[in-house]
Amino acid sequence: MPNPLIVTIDGPAGVGKTTLARRTAQALGVAYLDTGAMFRTTALELGPGASDLADSELVARLQSLRFELSGCGEKSVLRVNGRIIGDEIRTEDVGTMASRIATLPLVREFQCTAQQAIGSGTSLVVEGRDMGTVVFPHATCKIFLDATPEVRAERRYHQLRDMGREADLAELAEQIRQRDDRDRNRPVAPLRPADDAVVIDTSSLDIDQVFEAILAAVRAAA
Ligand code: DC
Repeated sequence: MPNPLIVTIDGPAGVGKTTLARRTAQALGVAYLDTGAMFRTTALELGPGASDLADSELVARLQSLRFELSGCGEKSVLRVNGRIIGDEIRTEDVGTMASRIATLPLVREFQCTAQQAIGSGTSLVVEGRDMGTVVFPHATCKIFLDATPEVRAERRYHQLRDMGREADLAELAEQIRQRDDRDRNRPVAPLRPADDAVVIDTSSLDIDQVFEAILAAVRAAA
């Protein structure tokens, strides 16, 4: 396996990236980075008025955030300013806030630099929207996961219920549709597969089948 080994896993909301990226990192014995968690944390730290901030204020607020990754596989831990990022970011509202600030070029520039710094010299499985296209264009292996919006809304519904949270399937489907629209159509670093990505439609596959397909793609590329 090349050193450092970078595997990018991109795809839309609710496609199962987090579970699969974490599991892939564990199987490969490398660190796992959830860049969606970085955008979610940034959205919470900036608060609802982020898009109205003057550029200089926005840059200063972004530069006060220091992201660090430690550990390996399923024990990878992401911190912001020394604090472990926890489940407070795992709501659809925070996902929507993250998707909104993710359209701001200054936010994307800051995230890209922070993500590349974490990946420099470290083997990673990294998940997000633009990992294969923008942040790690020379990755060892690029995966793009997709599934119909209906299947993704249903998966998210079960995930939230399993976490003991209230969830409404129709509302989730609408939130996913809006987030897809914003993530795919933004002018900077929109969600799309890299030209050299392995695209896996997971709509009719279970999690083990997708995991095996990812490992096969990594073995073929490494
Ligand atoms: O993967 P997620 O659902 O946790 O991501 C939340 C939002 O953050 C997503 O809707 C868009 C944004 N995001 C992004 O623009 N680029 C990334 N690499 C990761 C997330």
